[in-house]
Amino acid sequence: MKRRTFLKRSLAALALAGAGSSGLSLLGKSGFATQAIAGDFSKPLPIPPLLENLDTSGKSALFAMNVQRGNVNFFPDKTTSTLGYNGNFLGPTIRVRNGQRFQIKVNNTLPQVTTLHWHGLHVPARWDGGPRQPIPAGTTWNPDFVINQEAATLWYHPHAMGLTGEQVYHGLAGLFLIEDEVSDNLDIPKNYGVDDIPLVIQDRRFFADGQFAYVQNMHDVMNGVIGNYILVNGTREPTLTVPKGQVRLRLLNGSNSSIYRIGFDDKRNFHVIASDGGFLERPVPMNNIRLSAGERAEILVDFSGESAFALISLLVEQMGSRTFEAMRIAVKGTAEVTALVQSLRKTEKIPEGEASVHRSFIMETMSMGRGRMGMGMMGRRLTINGKKMDINRIDEQVKIGSTEIWEITNRSAMMMSMPHSMHLHDVQFQILSRNGRLPALHEQGRKDTVLIMPGETVRIISRFHDYTGVYMYHCHLLEHEDDGMMGQFEVVT
Ligand code: C2O
Ligand code: CU
Ligand code: CU
Repeated sequence: MKRRTFLKRSLAALALAGAGSSGLSLLGKSGFATQAIAGDFSKPLPIPPLLENLDTSGKSALFAMNVQRGNVNFFPDKTTSTLGYNGNFLGPTIRVRNGQRFQIKVNNTLPQVTTLHWHGLHVPARWDGGPRQPIPAGTTWNPDFVINQEAATLWYHPHAMGLTGEQVYHGLAGLFLIEDEVSDNLDIPKNYGVDDIPLVIQDRRFFADGQFAYVQNMHDVMNGVIGNYILVNGTREPTLTVPKGQVRLRLLNGSNSSIYRIGFDDKRNFHVIASDGGFLERPVPMNNIRLSAGERAEILVDFSGESAFALISLLVEQMGSRTFEAMRIAVKGTAEVTALVQSLRKTEKIPEGEASVHRSFIMETMSMGRGRMGMGMMGRRLTINGKKMDINRIDEQVKIGSTEIWEITNRSAMMMSMPHSMHLHDVQFQILSRNGRLPALHEQGRKDTVLIMPGETVRIISRFHDYTGVYMYHCHLLEHEDDGMMGQFEVVT
């Protein structure tokens, strides 16, 4: 394809969206840096390195990681203070196998507390890395457990009380991949960084001096901090070069609170092969996929016989309409996999009748009444079942080995309507229904995070097996979580 046609096509993909119009005007306020119209796209997409296994026999997984401060030049003439794992921004990809013993030494070199949570992992409560497992400044944390889960694209991030959003925003996040016999034997791309590409997608807002503009006011807490620059694997406007054939993209919406609709500028079809908790039964064709903060999907894209370029564009749904061109794709060389896999993994559907307990959860923005603050932003409270997080309170007790159905409703009054999501630690659940209907095919696999739009009710079913202890459930819009939209369930014998 000629360069000129390509440029025209990429520009056509620029536009961004949402519910409130206030979001956009906020971004336009002076003091914040704004995105240039025409991108650069000269930088190759960086691939997070695989974290080196210190057990050279490979029998067990033995890792070490530093949580540290860093600096990044997101703009050529400005330096941004960041946080990273073993580097300046984001962290290496941790890759383990089902059944493997996993040990990691996490060394917190920051001047403040952090934690390290394995998002999506079925893990003993004491090694969950939630707010109950703080790693104080200058100390190390040494989890040691056995991976007990099928192949999946999970991720890790900090989870200290009230600090999650800020620490993730500054760069603390990374991918956590589990492989097993099924993922080994499927005829899908699995050459990490070559035809099996991790894409950590995030958005950021900057001050004019280049520093991250994190929460500034109550508006940011309520709507989530939505950025005006897209980063893929920590880089603005990169180009990914892929071989001609089938390419697997492991998508993580690594943003704090944004909802992305991910697709290609030419609206080409792709196939979703995995959701949060691993493979679907068979590939699901789509041409765009909605992911809320924390959700993952693996997709297969066929780049054979196509024009030399394609791109990804994103829609951030909370704000006024606009699509970002996140990344360009160039095709070079030949891929190992050229045919589309037909079936992936048989997954047992948990029968509804198996559930012995039903619970309901109302996610709500409550008004704190009138008076001096009136009905404005300042008078709002984000709650689950009318409560805010209290680490000294156990909200729900779940019997080990039991199956439960949780019905979650986003009940937002008209003037306060905003999306929420529900994320559970410890388990992978299945979505039974969205507003009484079966979820879309790509949402019928294992999930750990589910988006719930205003007025929606989602029913999920899960088994609570193997481990006792206290775990979190919360909205994964990190500004909501930090504000207290979180509760604790304890699995008991
Ligand atoms: Cu991704 Cu409780 O976390
Ligand atoms: Cu989690
Ligand atoms: Cu929320």
